[in-house]
Amino acid sequence: MYRVINKEAKRIDAFEKVTGRARFAADLNFAGQLYAQTVYSRFPHAKIIEIDSTEAEKVAGVVKIITAADVPGSNAMFGRFPVLAAEEVKYVGDGVAVVAARSRAIAVEAAKSVRVKYEELPAVLSVEEALAANAPRVHEDAEGNLIEHTYHLLRVGDVKEGFACSEVVLERSYRTRFIDQAYIEPEAVIALPDPYRRGVEIHGSIQNPYSLRQNLASVLNMKISAVKVIQSTIGGSFGGKDESVIQMAARAGILALATGRPVKMVLTREESLLESSKRHPFYMHYRIGSDKDGTIKVVEARIYVQGGAYNNKARFLNWRGSMHASGPYNIPHIKTDIYGVYTNTIYGGAMRGFSAPQILFAQESLIDELAAELGLSPQEIRLKNCLKPGQETPSGQELGPGKIPVPLEQMIKDLCRRTGFEEKRKEFTAHNITSGPLKRGIGLACTFRGAGLGGEGIDRASAVVTIDQDGSVNIISGFTEMGQGMRTAHAQIVAEVLGISLHRITFNNTDTSISMDCGPTVASRGTLAGGNAMLLAGKELVKRLHDRAAGILQCRADDLVSEDDMIYCRSNRERFVSFEETVKSCLFDQGISLSAQGWYNPGPEELNKESGRGRAYPTYVYGCSVVEVRVDTETGKVDVLKITSAHDVGTAINPQLIKGQIIGGNLQGLGYGLLEEVEERDGHIKTGNFDDLLIPTIKDMPEIEVIIYETDDHIGPYGAKSVGELGVELITPAIANAIYQATGKRLRELPLNMERVLLGRSLSRQ
Ligand code: MOS
Repeated sequence: MYRVINKEAKRIDAFEKVTGRARFAADLNFAGQLYAQTVYSRFPHAKIIEIDSTEAEKVAGVVKIITAADVPGSNAMFGRFPVLAAEEVKYVGDGVAVVAARSRAIAVEAAKSVRVKYEELPAVLSVEEALAANAPRVHEDAEGNLIEHTYHLLRVGDVKEGFACSEVVLERSYRTRFIDQAYIEPEAVIALPDPYRRGVEIHGSIQNPYSLRQNLASVLNMKISAVKVIQSTIGGSFGGKDESVIQMAARAGILALATGRPVKMVLTREESLLESSKRHPFYMHYRIGSDKDGTIKVVEARIYVQGGAYNNKARFLNWRGSMHASGPYNIPHIKTDIYGVYTNTIYGGAMRGFSAPQILFAQESLIDELAAELGLSPQEIRLKNCLKPGQETPSGQELGPGKIPVPLEQMIKDLCRRTGFEEKRKEFTAHNITSGPLKRGIGLACTFRGAGLGGEGIDRASAVVTIDQDGSVNIISGFTEMGQGMRTAHAQIVAEVLGISLHRITFNNTDTSISMDCGPTVASRGTLAGGNAMLLAGKELVKRLHDRAAGILQCRADDLVSEDDMIYCRSNRERFVSFEETVKSCLFDQGISLSAQGWYNPGPEELNKESGRGRAYPTYVYGCSVVEVRVDTETGKVDVLKITSAHDVGTAINPQLIKGQIIGGNLQGLGYGLLEEVEERDGHIKTGNFDDLLIPTIKDMPEIEVIIYETDDHIGPYGAKSVGELGVELITPAIANAIYQATGKRLRELPLNMERVLLGRSLSRQ
């Protein structure tokens, strides 16, 4: 019944990207531009005694050198995050000065001549060190190195009672590490002085233009409208091009205003690894209790999150973590406590999944451990406990028909049947007894995920849709395209509601001076919230067009339907007028505006802070993955042979793009599980470039089969939900579970690399 959505459509930004013609921020150049280079700290924790730039200033071509003293407004973004360190450096990536010069080579050279005198201070380099009694403090006012506002809890029932009535209790700890988002395009920004608005214009690889604008207005001490941010084509972000890009824009912005010239700043890969945010390491301590038949009675989770030197995202991430820590299960007694911890290390930030990949690794491993203890299959224990219609989410939201759909039970059954899960388990168990060093394993994981920001903030969204006289359509969103395919999905929604073909639509880069501040492009909310804003703008335009067409066709507006670039009378399809003709008539006969702003606002979610209970999210998405592995027990090498993933996405706006999202997410989950780690030693980053980071390549790519489930939901546009992040989080625990089946080793610390698989070295049972 749909004409444009629910179908495959070519990506609207494919041509520019596959032909290499897309303009990324590093490709932009402006007359008279300078290049900026940051001078980095080099110490995990030190007092800045003196910064001497006299030698650097003498280098020919150097135009300006700034330090914290040159920040015109606030030097604290997101609460504490400095543009440049003022009195102390708190990790090796802190900037202490920035040199602007005529060329990049000169700036780099001159930066080496900036002499900084430090007095080293004791540093805390891990969560254990940070939480130890009398540990040095990362921030003087942060007692116990706990990050303010990052403590979140969830309380359901009474865990004492839950453990008292449990027949089996397990206690386990899991741990994850820093990893990098590893986008292909390193961060880049250009700041132009804007004499008209007495402010700046910023171009860059910016995931969140409004957050950048707000922070810059405060750093530069100017009104918000004096900062204009235009997003360039972005070569991947995954949550990463946020804080560090904002920090770069602030440094470049200060220099642009100080010199009156455009200032460009492009990070090298080494710098990107050094100063951009990473996925937070989690230290997770779980206790779970159940009946002998596998009915889970109670889960208790105590989780410490390594925030690093600054606190930018941990508050929101921890809240999501607390809501999901007990998984998609119906458990009568739950107690979750989650804390953020400062350390003198690289700082944690958003990365696709936003706490779920860490949580799911622990929680879905734990469920498997419980199943093994009870002699149940991984499928049986999940089917017994997974959320079903008539039950409630851990935060107390009702599931079932007419409420929040919950297809999880069916998905687990279908996926296990399709993959021959139980048969293969038996077959592999038999094979592994008699086989040589090559062992086989199959693992399962399932999840649910709150769609959108939920209680993190209002899921507001903005869109502007403008129809021109020839029937071409310009659209702009407050959300950014980062490779996820959002523009194609939004364009399909607009084409569907206007009843026109997709080729009429042109999608413009986000420009903060045009569309309203709709918050960040995060939390898999681009289609859900952003698509709703597009739909609202489209509906308003359809109303205006139909009013005019009713006049032309001499019929009632409510009898009209827009389809295939025409407007028809439903009662008599012989009577019609073209979309284009109606547009011309609106504009030139009647002077009717054909530009509409769509503003979607679902209202705040309601939550009780004392219990964590309430309406946490408007709706949920569900996923389930099965992974098959081969483990070489002589080398510890794990080959993932096949991944099968089932995802419930509501209505699939573009099934092909959804598959792409899930396949990409699955591969990132594989990298997180087996390979990736940003290694540190004594607070210094050892992973200097991608050759050390070991992200998966085409050679690590297994066969991935994607099964899309569509459920009836009423929150998103045409019933669409989310897909962006869910694909990542299932694969890591499914691999851990498959390795356990293959080797009998339960590995509780990421990454599950050759060394850990071979030596079985992991955290103790407790
Ligand atoms: Mo994302 S991890 O919600 O930027």
